[in-house]
Amino acid sequence: MKHFRMPAAAAVLLSATLLVTAAQPASAHEPPLRALADRADLRIGTAVDMTALADDTAYRRTTAREFSSLTAENVMKWESVEPQRGTYDWSKADELVRFARAHGQAVRGHTLLWHNQLPAWLTTGVADGSIDAAELRGILHRHITAEVGHFKGRIYQWDVVNEVFNDDGSLRDSLWLQKLGPSYIADAFRWAHAADPKAKLFLNDYNVEGVNAKSTAYYELAKKLRAEKVPVQGFGIQGHLGIQYGFPGDVSENLARFADLGMQTAFTEVDVRMILPADAEKLAKQATYFRGLLDACLGTRSCKSFTVWGFTDKYSWVPGVFTGQGAATPLDEAYAKKPAYTALAEALSEGR
Ligand code: XIL
Repeated sequence: MKHFRMPAAAAVLLSATLLVTAAQPASAHEPPLRALADRADLRIGTAVDMTALADDTAYRRTTAREFSSLTAENVMKWESVEPQRGTYDWSKADELVRFARAHGQAVRGHTLLWHNQLPAWLTTGVADGSIDAAELRGILHRHITAEVGHFKGRIYQWDVVNEVFNDDGSLRDSLWLQKLGPSYIADAFRWAHAADPKAKLFLNDYNVEGVNAKSTAYYELAKKLRAEKVPVQGFGIQGHLGIQYGFPGDVSENLARFADLGMQTAFTEVDVRMILPADAEKLAKQATYFRGLLDACLGTRSCKSFTVWGFTDKYSWVPGVFTGQGAATPLDEAYAKKPAYTALAEALSEGR
């Protein structure tokens, strides 16, 4: 569609001729993403790296300027908040919540139950048998109650369970499933709801952008839980894409079926990686992927937030995890806007 760049001289001529005032050099004071998102009644978010937020002024300024929703990239995970059994450390997470409050930003809670980034005391105890199933269930109950309770009234969306299905639609063989059986999912939602009845409670996973075996497993689970009056209100789509894999085809259709259940939806961790080195063609393709997900979100009122998993390549998790890949965020390592940033701004400008 309208994604083209004309030579600067031609642009000046055209705007002068048509008395168009909108054409501005890239350095002009364009509205930040959050201002555009406000007009579209959408929260635009980012994951926040607390070390970068403390140490890097440009990072801090950009976080404040561009986004209306923040997610802790790591500091609300169980290993961070309860590193020793019974000893909580909310300091970093509280810092994030304070920053958000100071800048008029909402906070997504991420995440209460996952198979990764669990404290060692817990995984070791389960592995050596010193924590049995009944005790584990009590530990999970206490964790959810403590964490949701600690942030009560300050989190608008909680990722209650994260990545509980395999790609083939079967439940992940995590310690939760092994020890507690599938009922741990409903329990987690009930306990979270009891601790903060106003927070919207989400399922969250990757590879669920389009309609496929995994997203269908979530759809069936959500339908069943809601029929049983289990308080699950949202479906979170992480959105970790790579341009080498193609764009998932039926994202809008997927969002629509969750909306039909009466649920909210959200893109929770969007990034679009590529095989390095980046070049103009790959960056242009990346921009269409970001825009494709955002357009799908803007296309349904059920979609309340669109969060990128980091906004600058300087701190992205991608190169550390996916060997040879990177350049996955909307700003480069020097905070310069990539085509992906422009694509997000354009989509937001066009609104719902
Ligand atoms: C990642 C963080 O970005 C990394 O810093 C950390 O080392 C590992 O976790 N799905 C999720 C996120 O739900 O919590 C993960 O975040 C990325 C994949």
